[in-house]
Parts: sequence; C-alpha cells; structure tokens
Amino acid sequence: MSGQPIRGVILAGGTGSRLLPLTRVTNKHLLPVGSEPMIFHAVRKLVDAGLEHLLVVTGVEHMGHVVGALGSGREFGCEITYRVQDEAGGIAQALGLARDFASGGPVVVLLGDNLFQDRLDGEVRRFLEGGHGARVLLKEVANPKRFGVPKFAGDRIVRIVEKPDIAPSNYAVTGLYFYAADVFDVIDTLVPSARGELEITDVNNAYIAQGTLTWSVLEGWWTDAGTHESLARANRLVRQG
Ligand code: DAU
Repeated sequence: MSGQPIRGVILAGGTGSRLLPLTRVTNKHLLPVGSEPMIFHAVRKLVDAGLEHLLVVTGVEHMGHVVGALGSGREFGCEITYRVQDEAGGIAQALGLARDFASGGPVVVLLGDNLFQDRLDGEVRRFLEGGHGARVLLKEVANPKRFGVPKFAGDRIVRIVEKPDIAPSNYAVTGLYFYAADVFDVIDTLVPSARGELEITDVNNAYIAQGTLTWSVLEGWWTDAGTHESLARANRLVRQG
C-alpha cells in the first residue's frame, strides 16, 4: 500500500433522530458515555493505534460544539481536521468528504456512535500488510436485523445486506472500516438507496465484487449507541472497562 501513514476518519453527522429528545439541542456524539462525550472514545481508539491525523465529519448545526469539545486534538496527542456534511446523506457520503484529507493514502473509518473494547493496532497492521481493498470487523449479536449483516459461503463473505428482514447470519458489520485510497472512486459510483442515503454497505459490497474485502471478528465487547437502549448499554460497558 502507498507508503503514506494511514489516516483516521470519524463520522459524526446524521440526525440522531432515534435519540430524541436528547438530540434536540445537541449532537448524538457529544452525549455522555462513561465520564466523557461519546466521540472522545473514537478519538482515543485511533490515537492509541498510532494515528496522528484525524478528520471529524459532522453536520453544520453542531460543528461549533464538536470543535469546542475536541479542539485541535492536542489534548489527545493528534491533529484534528473538520469537515461539514451539509445534510445527512448517508455514511458513504460523509466519508466522501474525506477525499482531500486522505490525500491518496488509506483510511480507517469509525462511526462516532460505535463503542468497543479491542485495540485497533493489530487490525491496522494486518490491513496495511494486505496492501489493498477493504477490511470490515464483525461481531456476533443477538439482533442482527438492526445492522449490516454478512452472508457467508464457507469463510468468505459473499454479500452484506443492510438491515435485512431475514438475517443471513448472526453477525453485525460494525462501524469500523479500513479502506485503500480507491474508496473515493467507489463512492463516486454509488446511487442513493431506498432511504435516500449513500450506503457504506454498498461500498463494502463493491469490494466483495472485486474480491478484495477481508474481515475479522472483534474479540471484546462492541455496541453502537444510536438508540436509548444501546446508549444505556454503551454506558454500562464503558464503565465496566
Ligand atoms: O453501527 C453499525 C451499523 O452502522 C452498520 O452495521 C450498518 O451497516 C451501517 O449502515 C450503520 O447503520 P445505522 O443505521 O446504525 O447508521 P446511522 O444512520 O445510525 O449512522 C451511524 C453513524 O454514522 C452516526 O453516528 C454518524 C454517521 N453518519 C450517518 C449518516 C446517516 C454521518 O456522519 N452522516 C450521515 O449522513
């Protein structure tokens, strides 16, 4: 893969509608998880994996508060750049805003409402050794229909289905993704889904079609925090450590 160090992208836009009324006047990613705003956890995970340059994407309504919370990144030991997503056009659209920031190198992408226990250094190394394509991290869950769900043939993922009516496996595709620099060309080919968004699952399915998607399973706990129930779970898990 290009000799450039991998850069990190934290996606913290969206409407947070499933967390109303908590998100009426603030951004979901600034709500407390443990003793810190949710987004601090994503920043620390990337810094702990050795990343020095991070981009945070969020909507215009709360950009000021997000910058106020994170600042330049100095407190975390990194340099943070910001980009505004004008409207919530989907995760892949938000990632598309990172093209200049990535400047021809690979990226690790975290959804700002995902909380997890594992360190990421090993996965970063494995992805960079692979040298191309994309890598997703999975976790076995009780309720896969809320997520992107992989369909397997042996140990190969043959398709990822977004919020399926019938889940093809018991795994969720978590909001942690690794992409080579060509991800921005893939995003250029996407068309909006039925819910009007550019879907990250379509990006991952494009890499499956190319035969360059790899995967592994997170060992420790993982949860999203985008609903009242999962936000409460995230708080429980983070407090347990
Ligand atoms: O949590 C993992 C799941 O995240 C995956 O299994 C799904 O495949 C993936 O589509 C996503 O599903 P959600 O429905 O939970 O995504 P949500 O719309 O809640 O967005 C998750 C984060 O992505 C959110 O915290 C901020 C960011 N985002 C989302 C949208 C729609 C943006 O930055 N901009 C956006 O326009």
